[in-house]
This record gives sequence, structure tokens and C-alpha cells, in this order.
Amino acid sequence: MAVTAVIAAAGSGERLGAGGPKAFVPLAGRPMIEWSIDAFRACASVASIVVAAPPGQLDELAGHPDLSVVAGGATRARSVANALAAVGTELVAIHDAARPLLTPELVEALVATLEAAPEAAGVIAATPITDTVKQAAHQSSPSGGSIDAQDVQNEPQVVERTLDRASLWAAQTPQVFRAAALRDALAGSEIGAATDEAMPVEAVGGTVLLHAAGPENLKVTTPLDLRVAEMLLAERSRR
Ligand code: C5P
Repeated sequence: MAVTAVIAAAGSGERLGAGGPKAFVPLAGRPMIEWSIDAFRACASVASIVVAAPPGQLDELAGHPDLSVVAGGATRARSVANALAAVGTELVAIHDAARPLLTPELVEALVATLEAAPEAAGVIAATPITDTVKQAAHQSSPSGGSIDAQDVQNEPQVVERTLDRASLWAAQTPQVFRAAALRDALAGSEIGAATDEAMPVEAVGGTVLLHAAGPENLKVTTPLDLRVAEMLLAERSRR
């Protein structure tokens, strides 16, 4: 089955603090997004690549005539929905430009797993959680309002409970879906809040499989992540 790769690349990169969109931040000598583009280009199953880019940055990819570039939206989910409109294949592989250590082997393994599981709507890369995970109690901020990200960083939080680590996985991308199933799921849910595409598919009762991917398929969020990714890519090119 042919696959279209969709790369979500329209984020602002605020937490990275690089002064521009994260997908275009230099990483091991090239814009971060190019590592993911190359990995998809090397996949026999991938027929086309669609990138959701920041509206002001569409020209950045003009040097890649094999890509379809669409304007991203205000949220990641909206950016993916915009790109999905340009997908004509039976399968779609959604990927974050923020995961530059993607390998063609991971993409092909996900596609093969979905092809072998007719009951499944999608297969996602994920890694078993190794930390012990605490759920914080809901509480109001010292200023009286509801708690926000700044409060979480600045104020000690109260532990509500400990989750059972044995059944917890951290979801990554790529996430490969039957395009029709993903479209149906998005049509039946509020686009905007989902932080991955498996969420809407799960919400409408679709079966989503977990495929164990290594922790090296990391997401670049902070300057520390950027340093680690740079080191791993340099190591890879020496092999
Ligand atoms: O912000 P976060 O790191 O979770 O973003 C994950 C991915 O989603 C990134 O590759 C980012 O470029 C993309 N994104 C997007 N459109 C947005 C926000 C994020 O394509 N509005």
C-alpha cells in the first residue's frame, strides 16, 4: 500500500529559544526538517511527502521540488488536518519535524505492522516509560486562577497518585494510519486540542497498535535535546 508522509513543521519553537521556527533551526549542518525529509525519501513505501510549514516560511522549502508544502495552522492538530487534505494514498504517516532521528527502517516497520493488522486503524512508534510517573493533584495557582505551565515550573505540586509504569508508553511519531480512518476520526472530533493523531482515532473506538521504537527517536524541545540530537547524528554519520 502506498504511503504519503506528512511532516508537521509549523511550530514556533518558542521553548527551544532559537529565535525562529524549530523545524528550520540548524542541526548537524542542515535545517532540522531535512533529516526527516531524507529518511522518508529513502522509504520504498513512501510515494509522496507533504509538509505543513509556518505560513511565513513556505519559501524555505522551495529548493525541494518533490515536496508538497501547505500552510500550517494555529495548533499541531490543525497543521496536520491542513496537510491531510493533500493526501491521496491509502496510508498516511504523520511525523513531527521535531524528531530528526527518524530512520527509514522505523517507517517501514510501522507500515508493515499496519498492513499485517487489518483490524487496526493505525500503528504508532512509542517507547516504554522508564521513569516512575506521578499524577499531580489539580489545584489553583497561588494567584488564585487555574494553574498554568509557569506555575507548574515555579511551584511545588502535590502528588495525587502514582501511575502503573508497567502499562505506560510514551507516544512518538511517526504514526501510520489508514487515511480514511484518520479522516473519519478528525471529522468526528474537535480539531485543535489533540497532541497526536492517535487520540482522535482512539476517541472514536479505532484500534491503535504500539510499535516499540528506541528512545533515540527523541523529540527536540529544549536546547539540551538539540545538543543530544546533534551528537547522535554526528555519531551516525561516522558509522
Ligand atoms: O510544539 P511541539 O514540539 O509539540 O510540536 C510538535 C511538532 O508539531 C513540531 O514538529 C512542530 O513544528 C509541529 N507543529 C505544527 N503546527 C503547530 C504547532 C506545532 O506543525 N501549530
